[in-house]
Amino acid sequence: MLLSDFLKKYRARIDQVLEQKIEVLDQVSEPLKNAMKHGLLLGGKRVRPILVYAVGSMLGVKDELLDAPAAAIECIHAYSLIHDDLPCMDDDDLRRGHPTVHTIYGEAHGMLAGDALQTLAFEILSGDVFPRELLSNQIKMVNLLAKSSGYDGMCGGQSLDILAENKKISLDELKKVHSHKTGALIKCAVLLGALSASGIDTEHYQILSRYADNIGLAFQVHDDVLDIISDTEVLGKPQGSDIANNKSTYPSLLGLNEAIAYEKELIENALNLLDKLPYDTEFLREFAKYIIDRKS
Ligand code: IPE
Ligand code: IPE
Ligand code: MG
Ligand code: MG
Ligand code: MG
Repeated sequence: MLLSDFLKKYRARIDQVLEQKIEVLDQVSEPLKNAMKHGLLLGGKRVRPILVYAVGSMLGVKDELLDAPAAAIECIHAYSLIHDDLPCMDDDDLRRGHPTVHTIYGEAHGMLAGDALQTLAFEILSGDVFPRELLSNQIKMVNLLAKSSGYDGMCGGQSLDILAENKKISLDELKKVHSHKTGALIKCAVLLGALSASGIDTEHYQILSRYADNIGLAFQVHDDVLDIISDTEVLGKPQGSDIANNKSTYPSLLGLNEAIAYEKELIENALNLLDKLPYDTEFLREFAKYIIDRKS
């Protein structure tokens, strides 16, 4: 299947799954539910769910089994974006081509929508009925998603990102920011796909994990590159946000050309790792290239 067809098919699939997960929620608070819908359902490339489906299907797992981990990780991601845009964080007013959640529903509901999406992720992943042979992996998935989202993952990285504003940090420190704030969830997506298969070989799991480290880091380097070379309309979020906040990024530290060379090197590493796997890795190859070719 061509990359574009795969993306289309699985974006439609995850959109439908997510819509259904929100629709079944009781009417406890209409503005909160609307804020959650706004942050979760309006747009987005769905990179993390697509990685879950891509790795899972490469390993022969049925789509139905991948829906819960795919939906769970997108809920975490959507929550991270809602909070990332808050005035106390990056203070942005545009996301996925729409006004940010807090600009419509207020800061309190921006915060609460993020909180509720975070817990919804764990409700979905732990509440899904997995086949008996995958029950221990389901617990591993919950644990992995928690760790990748929290102190040792996305939240920790967001903290380092804020602390690195208005500073010149070392390349090693910057790598730590990126691999936590963004890399951890991308890696988690790949590993959720791998854990959906019963009994994946440990060595293959490790190779996938290293593939994910490389594409995860490249993903944030490219996000930082796009902040400079793209424009607001294409991005669907404000171009120049990093510059306005005086963020530490690869382009700011190394210069644009070096940053582009670095993301290419990371993707080369990722492709070399795939050569070691005895599966049909074509889609993961194409996806790795897409990460640094994408325009938004
Ligand atoms: C943006 O993520 C934030 C980063 C971690 C770089 P995406 O580029 O995946 O955002 P959406 O989901 O497509 O809007
Ligand atoms: C955000 O990085 C990473 C998250 C954990 C949300 P950015 O702040 O660069 O993401 P954008 O550019 O606003 O999407
Ligand atoms: Mg940020
Ligand atoms: Mg931001
Ligand atoms: Mg950015």
